[in-house]
Amino acid sequence: MSRIAYLECTKCGAHIEAHQPQTVCPNDGGVLYVRYNLENIKNDFKRASLSSRSANLWRYAEVLPDAPPVSLGEGFTPMLPSREFANVFIKEEGLNPTGSFKARGMSVAVTMAKAYGLKKLAAPSAGNAASALAAYAAAAGIEAHIFMPRDVPLANRVECESYGARVTLVDGLISDCARMLAERKEKEGWFDVSTLKEPFRLEGKKTMGYEVAEQLGWQLPQGVIYPTGGGVGLIGMWKAFDEMEALGWIGPERPNMVAVQSSGCAPSVKAWDEGGRTSDFWPDAATLAAGLRVPKAYGDYLILDILKRSGGIAVVATDAEIMEAFHHWARVEGVFAAPEGAASLAAYRKLLARGFFSVEDKVVLFNTGSGLKYLDVIEKEKKSGMPAARQIGGIIGPY
Ligand SMILES: Cc1ncc(COP(=O)(O)O)c(C=O)c1O
Ligand SMILES: [Zn+2]
Repeated sequence: MSRIAYLECTKCGAHIEAHQPQTVCPNDGGVLYVRYNLENIKNDFKRASLSSRSANLWRYAEVLPDAPPVSLGEGFTPMLPSREFANVFIKEEGLNPTGSFKARGMSVAVTMAKAYGLKKLAAPSAGNAASALAAYAAAAGIEAHIFMPRDVPLANRVECESYGARVTLVDGLISDCARMLAERKEKEGWFDVSTLKEPFRLEGKKTMGYEVAEQLGWQLPQGVIYPTGGGVGLIGMWKAFDEMEALGWIGPERPNMVAVQSSGCAPSVKAWDEGGRTSDFWPDAATLAAGLRVPKAYGDYLILDILKRSGGIAVVATDAEIMEAFHHWARVEGVFAAPEGAASLAAYRKLLARGFFSVEDKVVLFNTGSGLKYLDVIEKEKKSGMPAARQIGGIIGPY
């Protein structure tokens, strides 16, 4: 852990030591960022250092905690050039262990939990974070206690049970799961690894920012489109860009960061449109993109600040647009995306149409997970006969 200088509160700037497990800032509940001594690290850690390293996120070891990794091979996922748009890349996170980018965060969080000697971890989850926690906890020999909505995609529940996690299915949303977990954690002796309430999931997810830069030859793209629930991927990538600049790997240029949410649960988009610095709780959240069913992000103030500073934007996609984009990607790109990931394509099309991006702009669309985890959702959608292509006015042909 010696590479870490301290944890820093994103609200009050307080420095907190990292020698024992921490959650959020004790003063104001602010999200804690892990800070490294980049001035020292910079001397030996060069872009060229990476060439001989293994193709997983631990290749960026100097900017990650130095504990023995609990790894299942996460990260360094493909950056696929689009077959449809000359300057678009699809970052294929579906190839991670447990089929989503959530593996990145949980690999680093569980690594630290193990280093701290924690024995029982708990998390509320919209689905994929649960699968990832269950897998990494199994690999580390640590107990995982998971609270997730009863109607999560089937794969998430089956995975968690198979990995030996203790699963509580909740009649409600991730916010209800979080409340139930909070009520019990002290008595049960669970350490809460909820999104942004422990500092190391963010460290895992930030590696997507390092990969975007490395895989595009150290030229950041004009835009990054990210399906945003809790926003950890977006926040993490922004942190990575700042770290890389401090390391002398990139200059001050930044992509326009784009958050896409489902119209059935779009608290950050609403706040963005209204010029708010935080979001309101979204009532009756409902979308088939389960990972986007987050009625209020704990780090909403960070998401909105990053969108603003990057010259970015927040946009919505309807579930019909998401499903149409899902089928389109499968047929045109050979990418079987998670609905959350397909939302990136829906957002890209809107931003092209609006002139926010031009076809000349290099834009990275994140497919955050594999569609294989949503077979029940996709089948149900088909059976319900929702004419997705027709509903959006036939922008693209039928699926
Ligand atoms: C496939 C997928 N994409 C995106 C998200 C949203 O992630 P974040 O919390 O980083 O915004 C989730 C969260 O569950 C997810 O499972
Ligand atoms: Zn603080």
